[in-house]
Amino acid sequence: MAYENKRDVIMFCGKGGVGKTTCAAATALHYANSGKKTLVISTDFTPSLQDIFELKTSGTPSQVADNLYLEEISYDAIKALWDKRFGPEVYDIFSTFVDIGYVEFTDFITSILPGLRDEFMVDYIKDLSESGNYEKIIWDTAPAGQTLGLLRMPAIVNEHLKAAPRIYTTLKATKQRKRSVLSVIKDWQQLSDYDMQFLKTKVEFNLVTIAEALAVQQIDGLLAEFGSYGLFMNHVMINNVIETQDSPFLVSKASVQSSYLSELESKFPMNSTRIGLLPYEVKGKERLLEIEKRVFAGSVS
Ligand SMILES: Nc1ncnc2c1ncn2[C@@H]1O[C@H](COP(=O)(O)OP(=O)(O)O)[C@@H](O)[C@H]1O
Ligand SMILES: [Mg+2]
Repeated sequence: MAYENKRDVIMFCGKGGVGKTTCAAATALHYANSGKKTLVISTDFTPSLQDIFELKTSGTPSQVADNLYLEEISYDAIKALWDKRFGPEVYDIFSTFVDIGYVEFTDFITSILPGLRDEFMVDYIKDLSESGNYEKIIWDTAPAGQTLGLLRMPAIVNEHLKAAPRIYTTLKATKQRKRSVLSVIKDWQQLSDYDMQFLKTKVEFNLVTIAEALAVQQIDGLLAEFGSYGLFMNHVMINNVIETQDSPFLVSKASVQSSYLSELESKFPMNSTRIGLLPYEVKGKERLLEIEKRVFAGSVS
């Protein structure tokens, strides 16, 4: 069934090594070539987008082609974002009962609470989307475990903060604060709400998988989790499918894939697409276009 994007923020998720970054890059190239100003952005801290586009320069965002921009978020950038929004105020609160320097404090907070980092990644993409600078934002993520953590985070932070006022209001006010603890917490809660709303209403999720036992087994759990957060699963890419069986080796590999393919395609009869296994690494625009052709086969967009 043809792949069609229903929303303007398009996320790719799935296990490590299944082809998320490849699909994201091919999709980004598709939209850029059709004249839409496109950003392809990675929230994987071990990124490979620059590598796929064969960019020599470091430092992002950078322009990759006409209409196509690339950005890889670094851990430091996310930390800085948190620091800018909440650092001083939260420090103000904590420093009333913990004797700790500011730099140590932000290092500490962002390391013990990886969820905060995740939440700020979502928030960062939300800001990009709201800025209106790009017509399409293609979001490449870290492997599934981390990705779901990231999607879960706004809801978890919100849940945690419900109990926070009770605890923090019992702290002795030993010094004059610019703002009350409660108002800081309220802002934070609001941010989590907005981020969750953004994920539910503006982002479409595309699952990249392969026709193998482990990948197929994990799908039901993943779908259930997406459903429980009200997230929109748009399409499933079944990658690395053997297209030409011109050796006994490939005939055998293809027969292994065949039952998993049937299983996947019966689960997603209306919204899955096969992507063939190419005989080389997918690097550079020309090879990405080979993938793009398969991803958008039969699509009108
Ligand atoms: N359809 C394909 N045919 C051939 N190689 C592929 C295909 N899809 C992905 N690859 C290769 O597999 C490796 C992992 O792909 P990548 O997109 O980085 O996975 P992920 O982002 O899910 O970890 C890369 O070397 C990529 O070139
Ligand atoms: Mg990747």
